[in-house]
Amino acid sequence: MRLIAHISDLHFGSEDRQVAEALLLDLLLLRPTLVAISGDLTQRARRREFLAAKEFLKQLPFPVLTVPGNHDIPLYNLFDRLLSPYKRYRYYISDELDPYYVDEEIAVLGINTAHGLTIKNGRFVDEHVAKLERSFGSLDSTIFKVLVTHHHFTPPPGHKATAIIEGAYRAARAIESCRVDLMLAGHLHRSYMQDLSHHYAIERSVIVAQAGTAISRRSRGESNSYNVITVNGSDTYITLRVWNGTSFVDQMTAHFRKGSSGWVRLK
Ligand SMILES: [Fe+2]
Ligand SMILES: [Fe+2]
Repeated sequence: MRLIAHISDLHFGSEDRQVAEALLLDLLLLRPTLVAISGDLTQRARRREFLAAKEFLKQLPFPVLTVPGNHDIPLYNLFDRLLSPYKRYRYYISDELDPYYVDEEIAVLGINTAHGLTIKNGRFVDEHVAKLERSFGSLDSTIFKVLVTHHHFTPPPGHKATAIIEGAYRAARAIESCRVDLMLAGHLHRSYMQDLSHHYAIERSVIVAQAGTAISRRSRGESNSYNVITVNGSDTYITLRVWNGTSFVDQMTAHFRKGSSGWVRLK
């Protein structure tokens, strides 16, 4: 069995200190196998914000996998934005922009979809598809494969497919052929679960779990939250942990079971 804590959009610089302390405590009690962070660690990519994010991550005695978000790239300094967009991220957080974690039960690949050419939108380029195929293509089918990006592949329920990641349709085919089980992302500050096959012309069912913002005050009407993923053979559970004003509590758990064409949601 493996436990993945999926947190996103921390936005240090606009974080709620009380929520940040509670999240740290929650994670220490949870003792996950891996903490996967789907980008936007900072509010404006300032040094002091990266430093605060680094201090937070230092207190987690677990493997941590992070990808940058659009807020982790300097917005106003055009020189840095275009020529060295990840300089501070690399210095304070991680030199690896497309990190990879693998053990006997799970494989988790982070792909950096943020870039300096646009303000908000993300992209999944040929090089990313090649990385996906290199990382997951030859793995045993019993290993649970997770793709982590900052930008979303599917819109929130009830919304049309607006501002979806560039290159998503080609990526979806690679995601299917590499038999990815779960996709984790953030960016919208909205938590929801979907199936990739409901939005793209693919046969295989792939679980999509979006996380809200874990600790930021930019919560866009939703309470702060994060996802806890339990991987146990052919059963996967995703629990939404929500801030209730004093602590993080379980709000709901979705149960998925693996079948011949991917994952089916039972509950
Ligand atoms: Fe964000
Ligand atoms: Fe974002």
